[in-house]
Amino acid sequence: MVVSVDKNRVSNAKSEKDERIYFTTKDGRIVVINDDFLTTDLIPLNSIDLIVTSPPYNVDIHYESFRDNIPYDKYLEFTEKWLKKALELLKPDGRMCLNIPLDKSKGRREEGFQSVYADVLSIAKRVGWKYFSTIIWNEQNISRRTAWGSWLSASAPYVIAPVEVIVLLYKSKWKKTSDVGVSDITRHEFIEWTNGVWSFAGENRAKVGHPAPFPLELPRRCIKLFSFVNDTVLDPFLGSGTTLIACALLNRRGIGVEIDEKYCEIAKERLIKEGMVFQKKLME
Ligand SMILES: C[S@@+](CC[C@H](N)C(=O)[O-])C[C@H]1O[C@@H](n2cnc3c(N)ncnc32)[C@H](O)[C@@H]1O
Repeated sequence: MVVSVDKNRVSNAKSEKDERIYFTTKDGRIVVINDDFLTTDLIPLNSIDLIVTSPPYNVDIHYESFRDNIPYDKYLEFTEKWLKKALELLKPDGRMCLNIPLDKSKGRREEGFQSVYADVLSIAKRVGWKYFSTIIWNEQNISRRTAWGSWLSASAPYVIAPVEVIVLLYKSKWKKTSDVGVSDITRHEFIEWTNGVWSFAGENRAKVGHPAPFPLELPRRCIKLFSFVNDTVLDPFLGSGTTLIACALLNRRGIGVEIDEKYCEIAKERLIKEGMVFQKKLME
């Protein structure tokens, strides 16, 4: 059984009571799937216009049921698997906005620190993704600057960039030619956001109840800049549901996959409260 962006098929899925479909709006435009993205068969191939996601970073974040401190080579194997799967789900002119750290500060080895950005990008290209460009997200979080290394000495100073990146990748062609729809971005937003250094604060973990949420501003910008109204957006690592809240507010169809049931519940509650999925008449 598959979740389709087509209304009827979603309601079919519901009537067959696939328990992996944790939550869906009545019109089937917003769907939360409680499943492992690597194995889920609920999303049709070549059906997604845009992926906006932030995968686990493997930096020992304490998720409910996911181990975030596996050996780095295993993390790269996991990365390869999900990147392959995500590519298959995209339409030929589909894109991805991939939020990852620039560097990984834990786990220094003989050969030095790892650059997550460099490693993930090279795996993405190897499995068939095409690279477009990179947005630097300045989280303005100076409290991260705690490790100085050798203070005021050249012996071993640390240099830390308190930023993350949003890598822009695509499947076959960057220019969207299928189902060209309506763009809802304003002139001001377009001029501001096509400058690839974005500055806005991160999200408050305690407030959201998830250990690593991104702020709504991140998917909001990605969705308005890179998709049309009514396009289908996927977040394979949904967490607390932020991408789907942006979809609901911006009249996109949205599918989110999350392995942990507790986070699916948080996503559902946030969709009702912040995405106003019940109050809002989601456009056709
Ligand atoms: C960095 S968090 C995403 C946070 C999200 N952007 C938000 O705003 O809340 C990564 C999420 O991926 C989930 N996850 C890890 N492995 C997964 C898998 N194989 N399939 C689906 N979800 C997975 C984790 O439980 C975690 O919630």
